Amino acid sequence: MPIKFDFNGLFDFNAGKNGVTERDIKKYKKDARAAYSHLAGILKNRESRVNLALEWFNLPFQAPEYIKKIQILGGKVAGKYENVLSLGIGGSYLGLKAAQDALLPPYYNDFAKARGKRPRIYFEGNNLDPETLSVLLKNLDPKKTFVICISKSGETTETKAAFELVLNWLKKGAGKKYGRQVFAITDPRSGTLRKIVDLENKKDPLSFRNLPLLEGVGGRFSEFNMGLLHLALTGVKIEQVLAGAAAMAKRCMNPETNRNPALMYALLHRILHKEKGFMLAILMPFSEQLKSTADWYIQLLAESTGKKYEREIVKEGSGAEKWSNGKKIINSGRTPVSARGTNDLHSIQQNNIEGENNKVLTFIKVNKFKHDLVLPDTKDFLAKRKYSTLLAIAQEGTEWALTREGRPSCTLTLPEINGYSWGELIFFFEMATAYEGELLKINAFNQPGVESYKNYMFYKLKKPGMKPEIAAEIEGHPVQKKTKYILT
Ligand code: PA5
Repeated sequence: MPIKFDFNGLFDFNAGKNGVTERDIKKYKKDARAAYSHLAGILKNRESRVNLALEWFNLPFQAPEYIKKIQILGGKVAGKYENVLSLGIGGSYLGLKAAQDALLPPYYNDFAKARGKRPRIYFEGNNLDPETLSVLLKNLDPKKTFVICISKSGETTETKAAFELVLNWLKKGAGKKYGRQVFAITDPRSGTLRKIVDLENKKDPLSFRNLPLLEGVGGRFSEFNMGLLHLALTGVKIEQVLAGAAAMAKRCMNPETNRNPALMYALLHRILHKEKGFMLAILMPFSEQLKSTADWYIQLLAESTGKKYEREIVKEGSGAEKWSNGKKIINSGRTPVSARGTNDLHSIQQNNIEGENNKVLTFIKVNKFKHDLVLPDTKDFLAKRKYSTLLAIAQEGTEWALTREGRPSCTLTLPEINGYSWGELIFFFEMATAYEGELLKINAFNQPGVESYKNYMFYKLKKPGMKPEIAAEIEGHPVQKKTKYILT
């Protein structure tokens, strides 16, 4: 059963004056068609896909022999080590974490039975907070730990700093051949990480083994590229995940808007944002296991659609496209928030119902769980009820309560959580984000806004090669600190 999309709650007949009308749909029909044709055109042209970082569209269709190779490699490593330490941030972390929580049993790291002889997986290099890595390095046994460093650019400070510390720790604790416990996933040609692995790999081919990343795939769209080894290590059947993604790719390339869930989702949210002012997007899975998938989506939507400039399209002689910043400042993008049912019904839900009416909720519902719980005969309304029934009614109730207050929401239903449906879900959100980028006429595949804090850090840390104009900008715009507004 494929994922079911129910958009009824976004329309005026449920959300009242705040909902989308048939007139709105007619008004935006041309925009939806243009979004589809432009994206479809780009996806057909390899040079455009690589130029614009849209090569991720082909990830569901990777060669089965390549996938088999990774699956075998993952199995071998899993059989040898008790722990895996995965270093990476943003797109080099969030997809892996989402997969881990969705597809592995809850409490995977805590119980050997749940892991089934697979290694514990720890994620680091995704923060500069010194606490977590310190505790981990004090408690893990370096001889029993395999390290994966993931960085597309090979330059990210958080990942780089953690990698250096972890390498030192391995050097001290795992003996001379510590490099054989290190694996890197990075750009095939450029970056500091690439230089390090090439150098070490030349000295000893079993040391600092590595997988090159595909050209033209941006970090946040790369789970089916840089996340593959992690899936293999944990025993997830990669071909099932990719089969789900491939099926969704087909659905999301349907030219008819009302048969194309990603285009429909993007269009309805665009209308709600532009015409009715709904600028907050809350993704609320009614599943503990999908909370990290909602966190992954935060990065996907925020980095892709939060843009200062409208894009300018440049056609090359070959017909391929390149994009640059246009002159028009638009400051686009809805603000994503992740929440989870039923946990956050006792938290953000009060604001969702009675606070400012500026948010659209997307629920993710799961029809069938791997386990269920039946309550004992409590002699009241809960007697002999199933947990899954309570959860489903809570989700229905949340939808009803929002509708009652004229607040838009929609529901995605997964028959169950497995590799196939998770692959579908991830690819749906990637396609919906690409369509939203088209409707906004922006470059949804870069993230220039992320650079400024990095530049500030490089300036303060005196990183060689700092451009004088960036240094001048930092020096020319200090943050004002008036003592009367600092309370001590
Ligand atoms: O989407 C992106 O490209 C970014 O969020 C990156 O994933 C993130 O900045 C990490 O970059 P890298 O993989 O180069 O270390």
